[in-house]
Amino acid sequence: MTDARIATARLGEGGPEVGVQGLGCMGMSFAYGPTDAGQARAALERALELGVTLYDTADAYAAGDNERFLSPFFTAHRDEVVIATKFALSIPEGDPVKRIIRNDAPYIREAVEASLKRLGVDVIDLYYMHRRDVNVPIEETVGTMAELVREGKVKHLGLSEVTADELRAAHAVHPIAAVQSEWSLFSRDIEAKVVPAARELGVALVPYSPLGRGFLTGSFTDAEQDLTADDFRRHQPRFTGANATANAALLEPLRAIAAAHDATPGQIALAWVQQRATIDGLPVVPIPGTRKPGRVAENAAATALTLTAGELARLEPIAGAVAGDRYADMAFTSAGRE
Ligand SMILES: NC(=O)c1ccc[n+]([C@@H]2O[C@H](COP(=O)([O-])OP(=O)(O)OC[C@H]3O[C@@H](n4cnc5c(N)ncnc54)[C@H](OP(=O)(O)O)[C@@H]3O)[C@@H](O)[C@H]2O)c1
Repeated sequence: MTDARIATARLGEGGPEVGVQGLGCMGMSFAYGPTDAGQARAALERALELGVTLYDTADAYAAGDNERFLSPFFTAHRDEVVIATKFALSIPEGDPVKRIIRNDAPYIREAVEASLKRLGVDVIDLYYMHRRDVNVPIEETVGTMAELVREGKVKHLGLSEVTADELRAAHAVHPIAAVQSEWSLFSRDIEAKVVPAARELGVALVPYSPLGRGFLTGSFTDAEQDLTADDFRRHQPRFTGANATANAALLEPLRAIAAAHDATPGQIALAWVQQRATIDGLPVVPIPGTRKPGRVAENAAATALTLTAGELARLEPIAGAVAGDRYADMAFTSAGRE
């Protein structure tokens, strides 16, 4: 089966040209329960066939195992893929919620070498600071990242979950190609300050969890009841108990709009984020995560959907009605520091 390839977009003014939708690879090794490696490999190949070229990983995903898992795919298709990985975060064993964050130069230098080795490549196309360590001035952190560019270890720079002020300060040191932050029908806090700053600076947005970690597809309702014991979503306040029940009711307009387009609720959620950013005047490349080739195709097809003004208006109140934060500890997010 071969379908039309998706359109392309540029990541930031001097950034790489990529398919308008990327692929989040985290779930292939980490956070969302058991994985079938064969299916995940097929999902990667299917994505490439459809013109998806931006592949997202991080050194924190399964303590480097996600980068190792992706390595054969990346090396087999080195000239066709744009590899994005991240440093700054580690998750101590036995505590899925705790985060250790480092942004200092010695840490970054060690992290980049380790990622290059695990990925099996000699340059990372897009290197993100995953989380902000407020003890290190952002200028220092980006200064070190800029040295990696000059040394040829990294091509472009990105930042994840930064505030508007942090983005401005960083961009003054070295051009930032992309900000990767959570953005979906359920999580719109970045629209207040980060989105206007990105537009002003010509920085692209790479929305992560654009499917609300799967909740917007209707594939689960209560994380404690529907997902396995090791699933990270059981620790996110909006996906359990009374919050989950209340939030599931918010999906009604999504389902109705999906039916009108002969589409799925997930496709409407993806079309929404793409269209929202375009209206805001930003280049945008959402990175829905899936381990299944059929879902890769379903998600890619959403790039061709257009929602009417009336449909957008109907979806507008959803985020404001969501019960529960997107993380148990919001201090790690831009919204927690804005
Ligand atoms: N920068 C950061 O701090 C940060 C944080 C979180 C994530 N990320 C990145 O962003 C990527 C995407 O975010 P995410 O994976 O958290 O959330 P997401 O893309 O909103 O949702 C992923 C979930 O949706 C399911 N799914 C995907 N397509 C589907 C479809 N068509 N129908 C039904 N279910 C579908 C997936 O299950 P299956 O896999 O079983 O299909 C998975 O459980 C990650 O892979 C990661 O690379 C970055």
